[in-house]
Parts: sequence; C-alpha cells; structure tokens
Amino acid sequence: MSPTIKPATGAQHSRIHGVGGYRPTRVIPNSEVLNWIDSSDEWIRTRSGIAERRWAGPEETVAEMSVQAAGKAVAMAGIRPEQIGGVIVATVSHLKQTPAIATEIAQRLGCGTAPAFDISAACAGFGYGLSLADGMVRGGSAEYVLVIGVERLSDLTDVTDRSTAFIFGDGAGAAIVGPSDTPGIGKVIWGSDGSQADVISQTQAWDTAFAKPDAVNGAGDETKWPALRMEGQAVFRWAVYDMAKVAEQALEAAGITADQLGAFIPHQANMRIIDAMVKKLDLPPSVPVARDIAETGNTSAASIPLAMERMLERGEAKSGDLALIIGFGAGLVYAAAVVTLP
Ligand code: UT7
Repeated sequence: MSPTIKPATGAQHSRIHGVGGYRPTRVIPNSEVLNWIDSSDEWIRTRSGIAERRWAGPEETVAEMSVQAAGKAVAMAGIRPEQIGGVIVATVSHLKQTPAIATEIAQRLGCGTAPAFDISAACAGFGYGLSLADGMVRGGSAEYVLVIGVERLSDLTDVTDRSTAFIFGDGAGAAIVGPSDTPGIGKVIWGSDGSQADVISQTQAWDTAFAKPDAVNGAGDETKWPALRMEGQAVFRWAVYDMAKVAEQALEAAGITADQLGAFIPHQANMRIIDAMVKKLDLPPSVPVARDIAETGNTSAASIPLAMERMLERGEAKSGDLALIIGFGAGLVYAAAVVTLP
C-alpha cells in the first residue's frame, strides 16, 4: 500500500481582518489634465465622474506605497507582521519585471520568509488576490495573507492620449485575510476572456520599445514607450452588460440578496459604469455605493481596497456589514465576491 500524505489543515472559514490605503500627496485636478489634451472639466466629469486623481512622486514607489497601505491593514487587523504567511501583490505597473516587488515589500514589513509573489490581473487583481488568499487560509498554507493592490498608472499613461489621459490614478490598497469562525468571503466568481485581450493593453512589449544590446534584434525605438491604450466604448459595454451578471452570480453564490448588502464596492472605472451596474442589480437606494473615483480616478488593482477603506473611514459602511465587490479590466479579467467588511 502506498503511503498517504498527511493533509494540510487550514481554518474552516476566512475573512478580511484589516484594510489600509495609501494615496499619493500630489493631486491632479481636471484643470491640469487640460494642459495636455483638448477636453473640458465638464466633459471629464460627465463622461467619467472624475474631478481629480493623485499621481505618485519619485519617492512614492510601488514598494513604498504598498508598505504604507499594508502597515495600516496590519494595524487594523491587530496582528504582527511575522504572522503573515503569504504576500500577494496585484499590479500591472511595477516596471521592473524581475524580481517580483512582493519580496521587497514582505522583507520591509518584517514578514520573515513568507512566500511573496506578484500577480497581473489588472483591475480584477484585488479580487484575484482575495480568492488566492481565501484558498491559502482555508487550505492551511498560511494563517494570514496580505493582499495588496498597487499601481503607478501615471508611469504608463500617455498624456497626449485623449481617451486615457484623464482616467488613471496612482495608489495602494491592502487587506489582511485570515481565519474566521464564520464565512467572511463568499465564493469568488472570477474568470477571463482572452478573445478581448486587445481592448485594454500596452501599446507594445518592452522588447520592441527599447534598444537591446543585441545585434540580432537590432535597435528599438525609445520614443515608443509602452503606454496603456483602451477601446473605451468596448470596455464600457462589456462592463455594463456582462459584469452586472457576474455580480449577480456572486450574490447568488453567497446566498445573499441585494437588500442585505451594507455596501457595493465596484472597481472605480467610470461613474457611469457604477450607476449602470446599480440599476442593473436593482440595488435598493439604502445600499451605500463606493464613488471614490471622483477624487481618486481609476487606480486599477488598488481601487477596491482604497474605496473600501474610505467608506469605513467616512462611516458610509461599517465593520461587519456585507459588501459586494467586483473588479474587471485588462485581460479581459473579472472577479466578484460578497465579503464581510473588517
Ligand atoms: O479600468 C479598466 C476598465 N476600464 C473601463 O472600464 C473604462 C471604460 N470606458 C470608459 O470609461 C469610457 O469609454 C471613456 C470615459 C473612456 C470614454 O467615454 P465615452 O463616453 O465612451 O466617450 P467616446 O470615446 O464614445 O467619445 C465620445 C465623444 C467623441 O466625440 P464625437 O465623435 O461624439 O464627436 C470623442 O471624440 O467625446 C470625444 N472625446 C473627448 N472629448 C473631450 C473623447 N475623449 C475626449 C476627451 N475630452 N478627453
């Protein structure tokens, strides 16, 4: 008889124990964007809901913003960094591909030898990270997992591109996922659609953008910085029609009805997408909706934890409330779940 492997035993359930955010100090109002593109404050506000966004300065690196946000999440969770058994960093704007930025963040926080890795799931990155963390806690590979969504999208923004120059912002949001006596993270409904990979993407890969010291490949063109491009209308339609269905599946999987929610925290992509989703989900007016995009712009992987922290800070939602979260973006990828707020 072949020997059996002793099974790993984890917690029965998991939940978010703490959340924290970091917002860069430099505020970019719409008036500043108008220096770069032919637009108007009114157009930007009515089409996207954005009044201002924050852009990181040279000191506000991906690692620095992450450490600041994570520090707050750790403090709220009331744990010690050495109890963290996994660090997941969701980002598409850490420009140094190797090594993962997660290991530096884990080291700076004092997480010992915790496994640390980056994931690229754009605006669904926080939800992807949450799903992994939930599995790690329940599967017994970690007691607490730190999930960070962090972006410096200003680095990937072409300020002359009218369709994206006003949208993106920078920042970091973090959450601590750990054991719970009751279910605090519902089934994560996540997925991808690679047939639409082109609708949001970098204009080109790094190797075609820059000259390599390689005679075979020839010289690259440094003027071709790989900024983000987006077919706004295609993403808009997909977000409004397909993502509302995903949000409904997350509610159903959790056995929760819309009227039982204490908050709706969708990815902060566009205020009109948020409004359309609220309508499609038939959310009662009593459910508070995150509208952080007005002050923060679209911060991709950071947007949901940043908006979550803000709602708790401002008393718009409270600890123990159920929140429906949904992220969607480049890939295309999506992730939705019902969670208990920390
Ligand atoms: O986070 C990842 C997921 N991303 C998203 O979910 C973003 C989804 N998409 C969007 O949020 C919207 O598509 C945008 C905010 C990007 C654009 O809004 P839109 O309502 O789809 O604008 P549009 O591209 O259809 O353009 C409408 C009009 C056009 O003029 P005409 O052809 O109607 O005369 C554009 O030329 O607005 C014009 N336009 C602008 N005008 C002033 C396009 N960009 C601008 C601009 N300022 N920046």
